[in-house]
Amino acid sequence: MTYSLTLRRPDDWHLHLRDGAMLRAVLPETARHFGRSIIMPNLMPPVVTGDDARAYRDRILAALPDGMTFTPLMTLYLTEGTDPNDLASAHAAGLITAVKLYPAGATTNSASGVRDIGNVRAVLERMAEIGLPLCIHGEVTRHNVDIFDREKVFLDTVLDPLRRDIPQLKVTLEHVTTSDGIDYVREASGDIAATITTHHLMINRNHILVGGIKPHYYCLPVAKRATHQEALRKAAISGNPRFFLGTDSAPHTDPNKESACGCAGCFTATNTMACLAHVFEEEGALDKLEGFASLFGPARYGLAPNDTTITLVKEDTPVTYPAKIETEDGPVTVFDPGHPLFWRVLDQ
Ligand code: DOR
Ligand code: ZN
Repeated sequence: MTYSLTLRRPDDWHLHLRDGAMLRAVLPETARHFGRSIIMPNLMPPVVTGDDARAYRDRILAALPDGMTFTPLMTLYLTEGTDPNDLASAHAAGLITAVKLYPAGATTNSASGVRDIGNVRAVLERMAEIGLPLCIHGEVTRHNVDIFDREKVFLDTVLDPLRRDIPQLKVTLEHVTTSDGIDYVREASGDIAATITTHHLMINRNHILVGGIKPHYYCLPVAKRATHQEALRKAAISGNPRFFLGTDSAPHTDPNKESACGCAGCFTATNTMACLAHVFEEEGALDKLEGFASLFGPARYGLAPNDTTITLVKEDTPVTYPAKIETEDGPVTVFDPGHPLFWRVLDQ
């Protein structure tokens, strides 16, 4: 039997749109279903100043096809040279919603990121003062720390000390991948939340490595063992408003993914809502999807939920999603969870 679920239009609190031809190709995939997104600033060169954010926002709006509405919520890329005054005026002008901390070397285009958190202390204090949230890629990058431990070590050695040092700082731990991260965010006092991606709810490290390496499942932070995936699922369906959706949909062309040194990122924009409905249904928690995808994020950022809705329909037979989207830079593979999806978003 076909049945349906109507939700407030969702928002995506962590999205990579890139620029140029890639931006034009991927933006409609998100704007079709989502009202707003926090836009990641890791372009080459990164979005560092208020002027950069304004120019990038205008390029995004110019790339939006006629008839679609979408609000990009801009972020600045924190560097050790960030000027606190520039950041504060961009915030006061309503140009930016958050600032992104990439530890240098942690991921795609993070070379200009922060090497030593002590070097950005003045900026973080200013952010705490003016109530500007910090979105964090929570991994250490030291070579002697195993890649599967990098989030946990970050919590212990960077995040917790930072939050004790500047307790007023509003922090979002992005794309949390471990039960340690979930426990930390659930138990911590003060102003903290975490985003959870679609793909980390659907895959664990076995999906990447068993039966041959799957480059399209490789992302950062890398998916952990199944017990961590289970903890993420429980957090997502818990109804705790500290946990909400940030897809981290991160397009790379196939040649860049299917390579001897493949890029990190899963492109989930096209079928994210179908994947989430699948997961929440499996967990017997479809009634918790609206909070996770549409309500907790806006509340966290002091915004009203979207005033429009989307309707998800469950079909009797599998719904086909495109395997790839074409871009002028080359094809981008759409996330395939490895099993059929029965949900689709009704065209409105
Ligand atoms: O998998 C990822 N891809 N993780 C990130 O942190 C960055 C992103 C990208 O920009 O490709
Ligand atoms: Zn990201």
